[in-house]
Amino acid sequence: EKGTYPHYMLKEIDEQPAVIRKIIQTYQNEQGELTIDGDIIDAVNKADRIYIIAAGTSYHAGLVGKQFIEKMAKVPVEVHISSEFGYNMPLLSEKPLFIFISQSGETADSRAVLVQVKEMGYPALTITNVPGSTLSREADFTLLLHAGPEIAVASTKAYTAQIAVLSILAEVTAKTKGLEFGFDLIHELGLVANAMDVLCDSKEIIEIMAREFLSVTRNCFFIGRGIDFYVGLEGALKLKEISYIQAEGFAGGELKHGTIALIEEGTPVIALATQENVNLSIRGNVKEVVARGANPCIISMKGLNTDEDSFVIPEVYELLTPLISVVPLQLLAYYASLHRGCDVDKPRNLAKSVTVE
Ligand code: M6R
Repeated sequence: EKGTYPHYMLKEIDEQPAVIRKIIQTYQNEQGELTIDGDIIDAVNKADRIYIIAAGTSYHAGLVGKQFIEKMAKVPVEVHISSEFGYNMPLLSEKPLFIFISQSGETADSRAVLVQVKEMGYPALTITNVPGSTLSREADFTLLLHAGPEIAVASTKAYTAQIAVLSILAEVTAKTKGLEFGFDLIHELGLVANAMDVLCDSKEIIEIMAREFLSVTRNCFFIGRGIDFYVGLEGALKLKEISYIQAEGFAGGELKHGTIALIEEGTPVIALATQENVNLSIRGNVKEVVARGANPCIISMKGLNTDEDSFVIPEVYELLTPLISVVPLQLLAYYASLHRGCDVDKPRNLAKSVTVE
């Protein structure tokens, strides 16, 4: 039930801090340490490479998850779009582990790959929000998102839950390998939940931003570097699916290789600046588009912000920034959809779970 909320999407955005807290709680043992079923960790430790298979928003969560698994647990990861992987399989490593990420657990494109890799005899783990779903039943292992039912077609709390669960998988794997990765994940995820609370209380500012940047435009670009690029892809998907604004996410460095030709007077460019190592470069990209007439909207993280930024998110551990930088993008999409009179929860031509290939 959406209660007093006008739309499920807004309710689900607001539920994100609670979902993160629930995940921390559920994945903790009595000693207060993060824990995951030993068979799953064995499967990860036996693998020489992980293949993440997913579609849409779940694919975007996989791109972020790769960063955790590679940086914290030191296992190489490839992330693939399920509908492509099915007929264009890369050369596989000797001991692959397949991870399927799917909110619904019913996505036909992902299931087709699962059937194929099971026939080939490879182990598979499904990360899903729905216990007993097809992808959960047919895989060897399941990790649940504990996000509660997600009703709006635009996925929000499942994305952040997927990222949080992937970070826990990386942490527990790293610990069993005796690897040091330099931060306390439980503590940092707690700070993320608090930061999400702050963002959920900033709706008025974001509504104004949506009005300023998105109420009349035909198109919109999202730019970022590194992990911000992946969040930009998600921001663009959210915006296009519910507001019907043509939106694309780009790596900042790719602008000069083509995309910058599309910048006209007033084109909104939403830039993410949450990573210290690329802060100057992304700001350089903003200057390039502004020189061509773009209307820039910079969303930065506290500590890296400047006076020209439109919105500043609270500071969290740098690998975990997608969990909070996505929140203003979800809200921007929500208000853009609302201002443009679109059906927020049930956008045209889309279904909540895509059960056909
Ligand atoms: O249920 P799944 O996570 O497998 O669904 C995958 C995509 O269909 C889904 O994320 C879709 O892209 C959403 N509508 C995005 O908001």
